[in-house]
Amino acid sequence: MARLVIAVSGTPGTGKSIFARALAKKLNAQMIDLNALIRRKKIYRLDVDGTKIADLQKMRREFVRTIRASRGPVVVEGLLAHLLPKRYLTHVIILRTKPKVLERRLRTRKYSKVKIRDNVESEALSIILWESVQAHGMGKVYEIDMTKLRSDAAVKLFSDALDGKVSLRPGKVDWLEEVF
Ligand SMILES: Nc1ncnc2c1ncn2[C@@H]1O[C@H](COP(=O)(O)OP(=O)(O)OP(=O)(O)O)[C@@H](O)[C@H]1O
Ligand SMILES: [Mg+2]
Repeated sequence: MARLVIAVSGTPGTGKSIFARALAKKLNAQMIDLNALIRRKKIYRLDVDGTKIADLQKMRREFVRTIRASRGPVVVEGLLAHLLPKRYLTHVIILRTKPKVLERRLRTRKYSKVKIRDNVESEALSIILWESVQAHGMGKVYEIDMTKLRSDAAVKLFSDALDGKVSLRPGKVDWLEEVF
């Protein structure tokens, strides 16, 4: 079987870090924290409000370098993981969370009102999901609604999808009725 290189992405607060850790453990995979990589290699600039803006080209280059230098399965997680080069990723998992639940969760962080609203809107409109489908095609993208799932249940769901027992085809989650 080809080497698994699985990207885990989604709106901030959807549970990427916790899920990716559980998935990497289950697959005995190397885990790459994309945010940590960006910080470590200093491949970002600071926006006027202090937000880190990653240099996507350099991020891709560093990722490819890391992948080439290692063997075995890899789980790479982060808000930008779905923007990594297509030819290196075997699967792209997008985590979803009901906007109202996400909003509550983000309020407990020190985010500004604007940042919370932007993220909740982005989740409601499925922005990251459709960016992923555009970049990788429907076949590679798996969508998981995490709202009522624990990370170990989500890992089980994904491994069932790999075995063809369930479908995690994108487009099943639709938050628009929840919001408008
Ligand atoms: N399946 C879940 N059910 C309930 N709460 C969860 C779930 N997954 C994560 N959380 C909670 O949501 C918060 C965000 O989780 P986590 O840090 O993994 O998200 P993230 O997507 O990695 O966020 P970021 O993009 O900021 O790194 C944490 O407080 C965590 O406890
Ligand atoms: Mg995280």
